[in-house]
Amino acid sequence: MAESPASPAPLSLAGGGSLNGSVRVPGDKSISHRALLFGAIAEGTTRIDGLLPAEDPLSTAACLRAMGVTVSAIRAGEPVTVQGVGLDGFQEPFDVLDCGNSGTTMRLMLGLLAGRVGRHFVLSGDSSLRGRPMRRVGGPLAEMGAVIHGRKNGNFAPLAVLGARLRGTTIHTPVASAQVKSAILLAGLTADGPTTVIEPAQSRDHSERMLRAFGAELEVSGPGSTQVTLTPGRSLRGQEVVVPGDISSAAFWLVAGAITPGARLTVENVGLNPSRTGILEVLGQMGARIEVLNARDVAGEPVGDLRVSHGPLQAFEIGGDLIPRLVDEIPVLAVAACCAEGVSRIRDAAELRVKETDRLAVMARQLGAMGARIEEFDDGMAVSGVTALRGASVDSETDHRVAMSLAVAAGIASGSTTLHRPEAAAVSYPDFWNDLQRLRA
Ligand code: S3P
Repeated sequence: MAESPASPAPLSLAGGGSLNGSVRVPGDKSISHRALLFGAIAEGTTRIDGLLPAEDPLSTAACLRAMGVTVSAIRAGEPVTVQGVGLDGFQEPFDVLDCGNSGTTMRLMLGLLAGRVGRHFVLSGDSSLRGRPMRRVGGPLAEMGAVIHGRKNGNFAPLAVLGARLRGTTIHTPVASAQVKSAILLAGLTADGPTTVIEPAQSRDHSERMLRAFGAELEVSGPGSTQVTLTPGRSLRGQEVVVPGDISSAAFWLVAGAITPGARLTVENVGLNPSRTGILEVLGQMGARIEVLNARDVAGEPVGDLRVSHGPLQAFEIGGDLIPRLVDEIPVLAVAACCAEGVSRIRDAAELRVKETDRLAVMARQLGAMGARIEEFDDGMAVSGVTALRGASVDSETDHRVAMSLAVAAGIASGSTTLHRPEAAAVSYPDFWNDLQRLRA
């Protein structure tokens, strides 16, 4: 986004007013990437309902098309079909695979391509992605025999992969990251024996659920387990995938509903996979009024509708194993903390420094410009509340989740806020600005 020649105009966001009504958030980003990738390496056709029609999954689809996979047009409200080419069907691409802003695309693709013997692939992306650490994936894959080169000793894209024979092995990952875990499991599909991944804490388990649904042999010790073993040998079969709404997108409405006076919102069809619901636990700890309605199971993932209304909030403390379960929601939780009585503390969240931006620094800077009282630590922040925010000139710094978090803050600020680079939201939620306007009307 930072590289578009003429950046769209900044957005003026009025403070005050309330939020009311129902909203259906777009499809889960993590599940959307996986449905496209697993569909591509399966035998037969995969049909995906509810795929997120946003920039990140479009990057995944474009990379797959560049390797000879037929993926139908991705349009809001229409099913997407992927014609699988099988486990060894990728053609060597003629050009660099452009992963855009998407860390999930690049990391999962590394795992998927590492075992394509004799074929050469180059992966790159926008300036944010070219600054994000990739050795966390390249290192474990190298233990399996992968050949991956990149800038700074293989840590940064552009990355070159020369497909090689892979060994099944046991890998202890240094960080709880679903992207790292998934890359290793995908590489394991073409290894010569079982691959075990052991994480320091459980990260989201969408890959495990979906790989199993596609027919892979996968063993997980139990719910919340940090150990997964994949045994290669079975071919994957095309599936019908139904993508639930993204709880990470719902989080903006949950916080907006909880902090905006008079607000009452229903967020429909939200994925409630326990490895993603940390945000609900924290909002519960804060005393937010949130109800889960119509809890159900959709194609192997728990789903429900969430009703939220405004009320008084207490400060929260989070850290440890909870962080991977709400890692993408921390920017908007910093906004919630401004409206909570007491000092909220976020610890063990150094991972935020290597997301699309350094989200600890960016939120401290941008929310700070609106009057938030934030003390930044190496691995988190302390936010003092209740603090009355004031409208200001702020910038998404090209980060989608920062853009939407600042919009939530702008709604309760006094005066109006000018948000620069709001278009970043399109990475995960292209209709966010329309939904905001509708809910505020
Ligand atoms: C994702 C995993 C998370 C998350 C990202 C999507 C995924 O990253 O922040 O937005 O789809 O696997 P890490 O697993 O690296 O923490």
